[in-house]
Parts: sequence; structure tokens; C-alpha cells
Amino acid sequence: MVTLLVPTYLLLTLLLPPPTTPSKTPLLSLDFPDPCIIQDAPSGTWYAFATGGWWTPPPPTNNTTTTTNSTPAADKATYKNIQAASAPSPRGPWTYLPSANPLPSPGVWATSTQTWAPSLIQLNSSSYVLYYAAQLAAGNHSSSSSSYHCIGAATSSSGSILGPYTPLPEPVICPLEKGGAIDPAGFLDPATGRRYLVYKVDGNAMGAGGECNNGVEPFQRTPIVLQEVDRGDGGGLGGGGVEVFDRDGGPEGVDGPLVEAPDLFFFTTTTTAVGRGEGGEESGEGGRYVLFYSNHCWDGPGYSVNYAVAEGNVTGPYKRRTERLIGTGDGFNVTAPGGAASVPGGRWMVFHGDCPQGRCLFGAEMEVMGDAVVVS
Ligand SMILES: *[C@@H]1O[C@H](CO)[C@@H](O)[C@H](O)[C@H]1NC(C)=O
Ligand SMILES: *[C@@H]1O[C@H](CO)[C@@H](O)[C@H](O)[C@H]1NC(C)=O
Ligand SMILES: *[C@@H]1O[C@H](CO)[C@@H](O)[C@H](O)[C@H]1NC(C)=O
Ligand SMILES: *[C@@H]1O[C@H](CO)[C@@H](O)[C@H](O)[C@H]1NC(C)=O
Ligand SMILES: *[C@@H]1O[C@H](CO)[C@@H](O)[C@H](O)[C@H]1NC(C)=O
Ligand SMILES: *[C@@H]1O[C@H](CO)[C@@H](O)[C@H](O)[C@H]1NC(C)=O
Repeated sequence: MVTLLVPTYLLLTLLLPPPTTPSKTPLLSLDFPDPCIIQDAPSGTWYAFATGGWWTPPPPTNNTTTTTNSTPAADKATYKNIQAASAPSPRGPWTYLPSANPLPSPGVWATSTQTWAPSLIQLNSSSYVLYYAAQLAAGNHSSSSSSYHCIGAATSSSGSILGPYTPLPEPVICPLEKGGAIDPAGFLDPATGRRYLVYKVDGNAMGAGGECNNGVEPFQRTPIVLQEVDRGDGGGLGGGGVEVFDRDGGPEGVDGPLVEAPDLFFFTTTTTAVGRGEGGEESGEGGRYVLFYSNHCWDGPGYSVNYAVAEGNVTGPYKRRTERLIGTGDGFNVTAPGGAASVPGGRWMVFHGDCPQGRCLFGAEMEVMGDAVVVS
């Protein structure tokens, strides 16, 4: 009985099915929601940007003999409209950039405390565009739309990916009659060279209450819209927007009150993800488009990462996958995961999930198998 000599742990390793996906720990243990990720072409450094928040310096260590009663000036918490972090590789290690302030002002049309869900695209070696959602400033809205958000664009031609970005004087997308718009994500279609902005119509901002303000009738629509943007500067809009995705039903549907946080990537049917980056020349016929989205409400355990797939055309139709990609209670052990963004070139994605600090940055390996996205 040779097997009796095999240590139990080895026997278990041989006989048990492979372990389920390991639980995840944050890449950054800070409040860093709705992330996007991009590699800076000149330097090769990776950057992640997130919804605005307070940066609080770590408490000073009493390492030295200094026992002065003064608090260092750098000890002050500072608010960033958009937060930034960097890493040598998408997998990390990630470092928060306390001195970066990519968007000092969200524009005259917006308030400065509600800047959400940045998305960054690189136009050429020295020019970037930052999309974001921001709340309308007083005087720019009627009382009924006072909490609505619209989508702005800001440009940096300083050559630095960290900006500072200068906002356009007007929002680029602002459907106030539908509740406004949030969650922009830029996308360069490798198959056609066209640039797009995908975003969520924020219907629940004008909802009647309940889960994320859209859990009771009358239910408001929260479709995902694809809008072509100018190839040259990413700011001007070309052609009309098309609704490419919508949620499944009211509170009884699988999506609950909303779908949001769209993000697009492209892969060829050879299962090679080529992402939204510039390296898409190998694309062409047979490409597929993956639309990541989140559903349910960000502040509850129902929030999750899901996706839909379109064959050969960025405008769809997008067919939803019924299984969640990442959700509370699965092997990742992340509560309320959402806001996923893929890395150009594929194979890695970032998202946020609950943590003691708020919503922290997480990441996962990502593979395309057939028409399915697999994370680990
Ligand atoms: C720093 O000094 C304070 C006050 O003397 C003390 O309570 C605290 O434990 C010290 N912290 C460390 C990390 O040594
Ligand atoms: C603590 O003091 C040592 C020796 O002076 C120094 O090398 C180290 O950098 C200090 N650490 C911190 C966190 O200040
Ligand atoms: C918002 O208000 C500012 C300041 O009054 C004004 O300059 C700007 O044109 C307004 N924008 C919109 C979109 O109404
Ligand atoms: C980069 O794009 C910006 C915006 O379209 C343009 O103004 C600039 O001339 C471009 N620079 C180069 C080097 O192509
Ligand atoms: C994608 O579909 C739209 C709408 O049907 C159509 O106008 C367009 O030509 C298609 N694009 C490609 C690349 O097939
Ligand atoms: C799941 O996450 C919780 C909270 O972070 C932690 O306490 C627990 O140990 C984790 N479980 C596993 C199996 O990693």
C-alpha cells in the first residue's frame, strides 16, 4: 500500500479538486472607488485613478528623540477630486500618490465634492483626456436636478499623465431630463480606430426611493450608452449615442435598481485579449467586445461585477452572461465588488470592494476562454 506512505496533505492535493479562487486582499488599503487603470507610454509606469476622497497622512511615528508638541503641517488631510496611485506593474505593488491632484477643479459647471469614476485615455505621446462625473453646481440646475451628475472631460497637454487636467467649460454629456449621467469609460476600438465613451444614464437620481433610490415605482431607466467621440481630441462628440445595454426588470429582475460602471474591452476570437490600448493592429474580423457592468446598489452586498458580450460590432447587440463574474460570497471573499476596469492588453482587471477604509482597490487575473471571461 504505497499510498499509505504518501503524506496526507499530498494525498489531499492529488485527490481534491483544485482549490477555488483564493480570497483577495486589497492592492491599496485606502478608499479608492471606481478605479480605472492605464499604462503611461513614455515611462511604462502604471497608474490607477479613482473617485474623489480625503487623503489622511499616516500618523507620525515617534522614532526620534524629538518630543516637540508641534504637529507637522503635512499632517493635514486633503481632499482630491480625483485620486491617483502608481505601480511598476498592473499587479502592483501599488502606491498612493499623496501629492498628486490630477483635477484641481471639475469645471465651472460642477461642485467640488462629488467627482466620481474617472477614466483616462491617452491621445498621443503628450496629450491625455480625463473623463469624470461631477455634480452640477448651484445655479446650473433646477431644484429638481440639484443632485444630478453629468459627465465632464478635461485635458492635459503638459506631457504628464497626472495632469493637472483642465476641464472643458461645459459637460460633454448631460441628459438632465433622464437624471443625468455618470460612470464614463473611454474606449479605443482596435478594430476600427474609432474612439468611444460609454456611460450610464443616471435614472435612479430621479427615482422614487428604495434601493439606490430606484427600488419603488415608478422605476426609472438606467441604460448604458455608447457615444462616439472625436478621434483627435476625445472631447467633441461624433454622431449620436446608442443604448447598448439595459437592466433586467425592476426590483424582481436580476439587476435590481440599476446597471452602471460600464467598461469595454476587445478581444479576438483567437482568445487573445488585446484590450482598449493602442496595440490592436492584430484585430479585425471575428473580434468580440466585452462590456463589464455592475448591478444592484454600491452600498449593499448585491453589488457585483458582470459582463455581456457582443460579436464583431462595438454597437452590439450585447448578450448578457447570466452568471456573475465577481460577487459577494464567492471565492474572492470581497464584499460588494464593482466598478471593474480592464487593462489594455487584457489579462488583468481592477475593481473596488468593501474594506475598513471604505472601498479599496482590488485586482484579478483575467482570461478569455471562448466567449467567457474567467477571473482568478
Ligand atoms: C508613541 O508615543 C506615544 C506617547 O508617548 C505612545 O503612546 C505610543 O505608544 C508611541 N508609539 C509607538 C509606535 O512607539
Ligand atoms: C527611525 O529612525 C531610524 C534611525 O534614525 C531611521 O533610519 C528610520 O528611517 C526612522 N524611521 C521612520 C519611520 O522615521
Ligand atoms: C454653470 O454656471 C457657471 C457659473 O454661473 C456658468 O459660467 C456656466 O456657463 C454654467 N454652465 C452650465 C452648463 O449651465
Ligand atoms: C496630441 O493631441 C493633441 C490634441 O488633439 C494635439 O493638440 C497635439 O498636437 C497632439 N500632439 C502630437 C505630438 O501629436
Ligand atoms: C455596426 O453596427 C452598426 C449598426 O447596425 C452599423 O451601422 C455598422 O456599420 C456596424 N459596424 C461594423 C464594423 O460592422
Ligand atoms: C474573508 O474576509 C474577511 C473580512 O476581510 C476575513 O475576516 C476572512 O478571514 C476572509 N475569509 C477568508 C477565507 O479568507
